[in-house]
Amino acid sequence: MKYVYIDTMGCQMNKSDTERMLGMLLNFGYEETKSPQKADLLIVNTCSIRQLSEDKAFSAVGTWGKWKKEYKKNIKIGFCGCVAQQKAEEIFKRAPYVDFVLGTHKIYSLPEILERINNGEKVCECTETNKTEDITAKNYKINRVKGVNAWIPISEGCNNFCTYCIVPYTRGRERSRLPEIIIHEAKEALSSGYKEITLLGQNVDSYGKDFKDRNYRLADLLKELNGLSGKFRIRFVTSYPTDITDDLIKTALELDKVCEYFHIPMQSGNSEVLKAMNRRYDRETYSKIINKVRSMIPDVTITSDFIAGFPGETEEQFVDTLTAIDEFELDYCNVAAYSPREKTVAAKWTDKFVPENIKNERFQRLNKKIQENCLKSNKKYLNREMEVLIESFYEHKGKKINSGKTRNFKTVHIPCHEDLTGKFVNVKITDAKTWYLKGELKEK
Ligand code: SAH
Ligand code: SF4
Ligand code: F3S
Repeated sequence: MKYVYIDTMGCQMNKSDTERMLGMLLNFGYEETKSPQKADLLIVNTCSIRQLSEDKAFSAVGTWGKWKKEYKKNIKIGFCGCVAQQKAEEIFKRAPYVDFVLGTHKIYSLPEILERINNGEKVCECTETNKTEDITAKNYKINRVKGVNAWIPISEGCNNFCTYCIVPYTRGRERSRLPEIIIHEAKEALSSGYKEITLLGQNVDSYGKDFKDRNYRLADLLKELNGLSGKFRIRFVTSYPTDITDDLIKTALELDKVCEYFHIPMQSGNSEVLKAMNRRYDRETYSKIINKVRSMIPDVTITSDFIAGFPGETEEQFVDTLTAIDEFELDYCNVAAYSPREKTVAAKWTDKFVPENIKNERFQRLNKKIQENCLKSNKKYLNREMEVLIESFYEHKGKKINSGKTRNFKTVHIPCHEDLTGKFVNVKITDAKTWYLKGELKEK
């Protein structure tokens, strides 16, 4: 028996890729271990979104490289994911102990690579393909993370080229996966007991635009998935604001399994900054879209992403971001301080870079605002009855807790002795904290 350890960094796309890589590895006689010391094959699945993520990847393999040099000569080390796709052969220069570099475009060549590294070769497989076949033709079972939610990528890549973002360089052009494959993967996940399907893509709402042989969009996919039998939930992330159509909102509202949750990154509350970011909307347009979603879908949760200290961002422009979070009543937001990325347009605007201390200060102010709004948003649900899908069961300070999510993506903690993981329960909300709600069981 051989053991593989995979350290997965970055977004759900990477997590989904890891599940697929593990599936292939299990087929080749490997077993997953959570202990790197025990592994014969060590893989890091990297993220390149910010400099810090990239540094983390090199520091992980650095440790393994030391082991290999000092006392574990036979281990093999793989460097995969977004940093791999972007840097390719360069990885070997910086980390010569790495045995293979595998980019996001070629994860399905992993079995072939294993054979080659076991023959003592060093392999770099990062050719950009941008072919739809490469993201659909798979004969291996997916080794999903245990739990209630199954991720299913519906598209790969992005064509938007926001001026700060590395993703179009690490994931290539937008390619939609065929509905037949997605439905098949969903059926398989549901029959193995998963209770929630999350459809993944950089811009899920532009799904299907690239199909030449059919007219089939996200709303069609949602309808087909909603028709599968059994009780389960459907989510989709991430939505690009201007690609959300009335038809999509209406479909999401009408389908009982599709949850009341939209992740619609705004990035900045200021129209000039948005223009410099190459986002295809201004503050007013974003406002119209959010208002439409809110007015059509009762109790909808809308979350967003923002960047603090984009090149050239003034204090006044930053304040527009703070006011946007209030004005649009965003329920939760991810925030990041701007990090210049190689190849991207904004990285060249060095004369406009915002000093680190100001970026960090803005980052803190954003976080404070988000905390306030999150609590405000949670308080709306006090005394309400909500359906919760239980995700985990644990003990905290001597109390047994079931933790799960509402349809609108609120975390609820429910004190209860029985492990209800995977069950849908009705709960009365008794308390609202910043990051979660507390509830008590109404009935099973
Ligand atoms: N496709 C999604 C975002 C994917 S990247 C969208 O268009 O919104 C996830 C988040 O990382 C982005 O929303 C952005 O807020 C952040 N991000 C991307 N590049 C960044 C950079 N160079 N510096 C800081 N944050 C960045
Ligand atoms: Fe990056 Fe913009 Fe594409 Fe999102 S839409 S992945 S932020 S380039
Ligand atoms: Fe995701 Fe990071 Fe790649 S956010 S797409 S893993 S650069």
